Amino acid sequence: MSTQLEKIKELIALRAEARLGGGEKAIAKQHEKGKYTARERIAMLLDEGSFEEMDMFVKHRCTNFGQDKKTFLGDGVVTGSGTIDGRLVYVFAQDFTVFGGSLSETMAMKICKVMDQAMKMGAPCIGINDSGGARIQEGINALAGYAEIFQRNILASGVIPQISGIFGPCAGGAVYSPALTDFTLMMEGTSYMFLTGPKVVKTVTGEDVSQEDLGGASVHASKSGVTHFTAETEEEALALIRQLLSYIPQNNLEEPPYIECTDPIDRLEDSLNEIIPDSPNKAYDMYNVIAAIVDNGEFLEVQKQYATNIIVGFARFNGQSVGIVANQPCRYAGVLDCNASRKGARFVRFCDAFNIPIVSLVDVPGFLPGTGQEYNAVILHGAKLLYAYGEATVPKVTVTLRKSYGGSHIVMSCKQLRGDINYAWPSAEIAVMGGAGAVEVLYAKEAKTAEDPKAFMAEKEAEYTKLFANPYNAAKYGYIDDVIEPRNTRFRIIRALQQLQTKKLSNPAKKHGNIPL
Ligand code: HXC
Repeated sequence: MSTQLEKIKELIALRAEARLGGGEKAIAKQHEKGKYTARERIAMLLDEGSFEEMDMFVKHRCTNFGQDKKTFLGDGVVTGSGTIDGRLVYVFAQDFTVFGGSLSETMAMKICKVMDQAMKMGAPCIGINDSGGARIQEGINALAGYAEIFQRNILASGVIPQISGIFGPCAGGAVYSPALTDFTLMMEGTSYMFLTGPKVVKTVTGEDVSQEDLGGASVHASKSGVTHFTAETEEEALALIRQLLSYIPQNNLEEPPYIECTDPIDRLEDSLNEIIPDSPNKAYDMYNVIAAIVDNGEFLEVQKQYATNIIVGFARFNGQSVGIVANQPCRYAGVLDCNASRKGARFVRFCDAFNIPIVSLVDVPGFLPGTGQEYNAVILHGAKLLYAYGEATVPKVTVTLRKSYGGSHIVMSCKQLRGDINYAWPSAEIAVMGGAGAVEVLYAKEAKTAEDPKAFMAEKEAEYTKLFANPYNAAKYGYIDDVIEPRNTRFRIIRALQQLQTKKLSNPAKKHGNIPL
């Protein structure tokens, strides 16, 4: 065999070795846990055959604890580029079969390299985390590696979409990279995220808590809001990431992809003409409204289980990607509270950063009162949503279905927060406050001297409601652009979005604003 052929044979052997990661035994162990390997995950995530791997021959440089005698090609992370639906993406997937996917100095270098490439090329960066944290043998070099990654996450924020899949352990400071990215997806049952694990918790606070209860997928989906999505299987999770990207542009200078619309744009939804109950205290399900108006009823909800009184997610109108923000009257009457405000604000800011128009569906009785909310800084959290809407320069279309009272009226993309097109249904009630509360403030004293105080107050409330609980008072001042027939909502939103396609609006030049964090 010629020397050249021998060298090629060596290359092929090295590649095969790298592809085995931590070896067959470690791969079998990974499979036994019901988990795929890093390479298998990348293959499922990307378009078939599109993966171009980088840095396959990188090895760690640590000599502590005999590490120099233990090296693996690729060093615990698989990195490179590929396509999703034909669009370029960069990806890194930690390989648990090598030192438990723990982060070494060289692993960090590999991750930073794909992040830098993603920034240069203006393409999304997807990270699949499955790691025991900092590689203990490397000490401070591993920490420095994390910091390098975090710095890149920060600079890439709002420039390219960043998505984190948590497919195994993600503990300690390692959680901060996903937290800095735009979307996090956790695997149910096999993943967890926490700053300090159950053992440390027990030592420090005495609290007994399982890994799952401390940082499992359902905890972060429903209680903390740390994760935006959860999935039962890895196949489902990877398909979800592909679906999510279909709504998002490659970077902050591009528009989201347009998908051919097969749903008639002038489809009338008669059911919407009867969806609002006669009693203002009765609820209806906002999901039914969303499903009725968006293309083919398709809606990708974000943070589905968290702060369920507000709904956020992606949909399309006439093939154009939009972010939907909607109050949910059948969850705590759709009231705004600390968590709903934070959830809404973060989503609005994502849409604005990536040129995705925002459609807001409003039915909000107000902000939740009480010490629970005030002590948790509902003032600041509410201000976040206000700030997010007010700062957003993307097209903003708002439809008020029913209630829109007080501060929450302003916060939910009102005209003065640069709402571009604000529609209301005939059932809309746009006022400072509800009738019962208003007459209590205005007439409580007079009622005391009235012949029949109850009847007096009921009469005053009816008077107030007639005057204010309608859309026409706001429309009279131009705060509402038009009152529309509910069944025609889809068509009117599509027309509004068409009109707004050439919108140009920018904010005053500044280093950055000071959102009330
Ligand atoms: C080096 C590690 C490692 C680590 C795991 N391994 N974590 N090697 N550094 N951090 C190795 C194990 O020694 C083992 O090697 C292999 O990976 C698989 O690990 P197992 O323990 O056999 O797997 P499993 O039983 O599934 O348990 C997974 C685990 C556990 C829960 C993640 O390994 C674990 O608790 N690891 C340590 C977690 C930790 O404390 N990390 C440091 C946190 S501090 P062999 O050779 O036996 O196969 C931190 C600071 C970050 O991360 C700060 C950033 C700002």
